[in-house]
Amino acid sequence: MPDRIYLDANATTRVDSRVADAIEPYLREGYGNPSSSHPEGRQAAAAVAKARGQVAALLGCAPDEVVFTGGGSEADNLALKGVAWATRSKGRHLVVSTVEHPAVSEPARFLEREGWQVTALPVDRYGQVSAAQVAAALRDDTVLVSIMHANNETGTVNDIAAIAAVCRARGVLFHTDAAQSAGKLPIDVKDLGVGLLAVAGHKLYAPKGIGALYVRSGVVLEPLIHGAGHEGGRRAGTENVPFIAGLGAACELARTEGLANFAQKVRPLRDRLHELLLSAVPDLILNGHPEARLPNTLNVSVPGLLGRDILAACPEVSASTGSACHEGVDRPSPVLAAMGVSSEVALGALRLSLSLSTTREDVDRAAEAIVAAVSRLRQP
Ligand SMILES: Cc1ncc(COP(=O)(O)O)c(C=O)c1O
Repeated sequence: MPDRIYLDANATTRVDSRVADAIEPYLREGYGNPSSSHPEGRQAAAAVAKARGQVAALLGCAPDEVVFTGGGSEADNLALKGVAWATRSKGRHLVVSTVEHPAVSEPARFLEREGWQVTALPVDRYGQVSAAQVAAALRDDTVLVSIMHANNETGTVNDIAAIAAVCRARGVLFHTDAAQSAGKLPIDVKDLGVGLLAVAGHKLYAPKGIGALYVRSGVVLEPLIHGAGHEGGRRAGTENVPFIAGLGAACELARTEGLANFAQKVRPLRDRLHELLLSAVPDLILNGHPEARLPNTLNVSVPGLLGRDILAACPEVSASTGSACHEGVDRPSPVLAAMGVSSEVALGALRLSLSLSTTREDVDRAAEAIVAAVSRLRQP
């Protein structure tokens, strides 16, 4: 689709052709079951082991601390429910934030229905949670804290190292949802000091339906899927060898070139897009933290207009709004509402998220189309 401008990389990314090349052999000749001891099985097992090492290298952990899952949601569910179920005799209190992705907030609500107590910490106007807030919320019966690394809507980044440190000081396990940050920001699980960390393949140029959970050595989880002892007994099921190979290749590419390109190429393009929009729409409001933000994410509101109407008026741009439409009524995004953004401003939000393949021309054309749409819609 050459004429389209895709600015929705936080929703999903296009599979990198080198990732597709890494997947293809395992859809064709490399069909063995990694648990089999014959050459076909050993070839598949070697592919899984290679990918495990590639994911581990991106995250700074040991290969056996990586559990492959069927995506980011499963990784988050495994972290929350797996820890809660394994530690129910120690305590039944969890801490999350009010801006978590449903992949975290919904398992937390599920556990609440099952008798756990959940503290959802409020965020400041940028969408951040502080380490002091987390420290104040910890109780003797807290078994897990889960605070996202980077928010999917605003890109706001939390100080995970500081939050993990207060948890560690109280002996509480800490999980972070890194679905949006992995591949965009450098991540070292040891430096961050986290016990668990979730990755979603399709946010970093691998396919949908593959992800990983970092589980620090010694952390015990109850599996969500019981069966044979795959993934060190933490996730049963014959491995999805092709997509695991793809996730490995994507992590390798992120480590060797993607991270540098996010800092050197994507951030300046994102900032250019912001400047172009701001110079033509001076009352444009930035949602999210001005600096502590993913390098590719720009969430802006045009006061008085609906994000949905703006996108409808520039159909060549693929992006997201900061609202959801239920039965004909626009509702502001719960993330923006939790940040204290007024309904009027939240309803005018656009999430523009760039990828490694976004060009300067894309940015210039998108800015032109959005500015033209805004001025048309604002005409009396
Ligand atoms: C922050 C965050 N967490 C978790 C997920 C879920 O990942 P997946 O789509 O792979 O299940 C997403 C995807 O939108 C996300 O943005």
